[in-house]
Amino acid sequence: KKAVVFISGGGSNMLSLATAAAEPDFPAEIIAVISDKAEAGGLAKAAALGIRTSTFVRQDFSSKEAHEAAILAELDRLQPDVICLAGYMRMLSAAFIHRHEGKILNIHPSLLPLFPGLHTHQRAIDAGMKIAGCTVHFVTEAMDDGPIIAQAAVPILAGDTPETLASRVLTVEHQIYPLALRLVAEGTVEMKNGCAVSHAPS
Ligand code: GRF
Repeated sequence: KKAVVFISGGGSNMLSLATAAAEPDFPAEIIAVISDKAEAGGLAKAAALGIRTSTFVRQDFSSKEAHEAAILAELDRLQPDVICLAGYMRMLSAAFIHRHEGKILNIHPSLLPLFPGLHTHQRAIDAGMKIAGCTVHFVTEAMDDGPIIAQAAVPILAGDTPETLASRVLTVEHQIYPLALRLVAEGTVEMKNGCAVSHAPS
């Protein structure tokens, strides 16, 4: 299966996906990395691995629609089976999501449905949570709300700051995103009628 990864920043999740996908038995290949930021550190990391990269800077386009149309045209050329949003800090329009519904995955740094949106680690600490974590889910129109594919939890420790917690969560993000991509690429999990449906391993 062909996967395209969307990034906006350092691309550590993209790197963990690319590393996992390089294994011979992995059911997906990362065929391209797309960024909305020319300065995204992940672009150099992808290029160093020989992965095709393309950048679509929002300011270069007259509207959100034009920006998305350019990205959609690139996706039509690439024909991916799976699109992995990985630290991609831009909302996709409903039209974009409908075009690729059931094929778009995202990783969010909280145990959804808790703490959708931003500043998830600060909010978990402020709420007195004893665990935190991350979620890989299918992307739907609502933000951080689609059917859940995989989750991982970590402890929140006394004295944790958003930074120390973010670092602990990022470690398990790098473990569960490759797992989630494997499940979707091999067809074990798929999105059906708005739900994540698991098929018993064949
Ligand atoms: C991190 O906060 C991660 O939790 C979230 O996106 C941010 C950047 O990730 N998924 P990455 O290093 O660019 O993959």
